[in-house]
Amino acid sequence: MLMDRFKLDGKVALVTGSGRGIGQGCALAFAELGAHVVCSARTPEQIEETAERAGAFGADALAVPCDVTDAGQLENVVSKTLERFGRIDILVNNAGGSPPRPALDTSEAMFNRAFQFNVTSAMNLTRMVVPHMLEGDGGSVVNISSAAGRLAQSGFAAYGTAKAALSALTRLLGQEFAPRVRVNAIAVGSIATSALLPFLDEKTRGQMESMTPMARLGEVDDIALAALYLASPASSWVTGKIFEVDGGTESTNWPFEFPSA
Ligand SMILES: NC(=O)c1ccc[n+]([C@@H]2O[C@H](COP(=O)([O-])OP(=O)(O)OC[C@H]3O[C@@H](n4cnc5c(N)ncnc54)[C@H](OP(=O)(O)O)[C@@H]3O)[C@@H](O)[C@H]2O)c1
Repeated sequence: MLMDRFKLDGKVALVTGSGRGIGQGCALAFAELGAHVVCSARTPEQIEETAERAGAFGADALAVPCDVTDAGQLENVVSKTLERFGRIDILVNNAGGSPPRPALDTSEAMFNRAFQFNVTSAMNLTRMVVPHMLEGDGGSVVNISSAAGRLAQSGFAAYGTAKAALSALTRLLGQEFAPRVRVNAIAVGSIATSALLPFLDEKTRGQMESMTPMARLGEVDDIALAALYLASPASSWVTGKIFEVDGGTESTNWPFEFPSA
């Protein structure tokens, strides 16, 4: 059956930033399709809640607190995963972000922080995990990038540059790790999560919806389904690619004005 190729029975998936939002959606989708999941973020109660919900699908789920910007904590989450499961098949580098800000108000420290959080952390964790994938049956890495890495829009110099770099890293590592480990990214459009909700009063939401071809904001599941495809054998001929899951956006749907220089 073709549908069987989406199944993740017996696979072990590590998802960063899985206490809420897109990361949580990915962890729960993987659990629903049979994977054991390692839920990781800084807030213990939130990752424990994700793990509990994953467990309801019959998954063996582990919650390991981790700040992805700290290499020592990344090493800890990898070793806790191996201790419990003895393997890692799927890695989702999801934790990331950086608030919009005019370029002239973006200090070197802020710019570096955006890069560290969105790119260096993903590179570090991938470097730690891939050797274990290679020891096993191979694996799949899914990086959560952003439409902001592709679109030209004011206020996104730090975040957009960092996500563009994460997309470039995806293409480069896809080549380097083929054929046993696949590396793909999702260039995510505007999703109604706690990262976006603070900006969304009713008027702004309406403006964003009317600027989005598919006439709505994205839901976590829109991304989780794409991640499921990229993590599963269904995409076994796909690597080094950036999937645009963004409601059809070809220009910014961000309605805020930033002062021009
Ligand atoms: N929402 C959107 O519209 C959108 C659009 C494009 C791309 N994205 C990308 O999607 C990813 C997830 O965003 P989201 O909207 O789901 O965000 P979210 O709802 O705010 O969730 C973020 C998750 O990451 C965790 N996290 C934050 N800082 C962390 C750190 N230093 N180390 C480890 N975990 C950390 C958070 O938990 P703790 O705070 O407890 O650590 C939380 O579990 C990000 O890479 C973001 O750039 C989102």
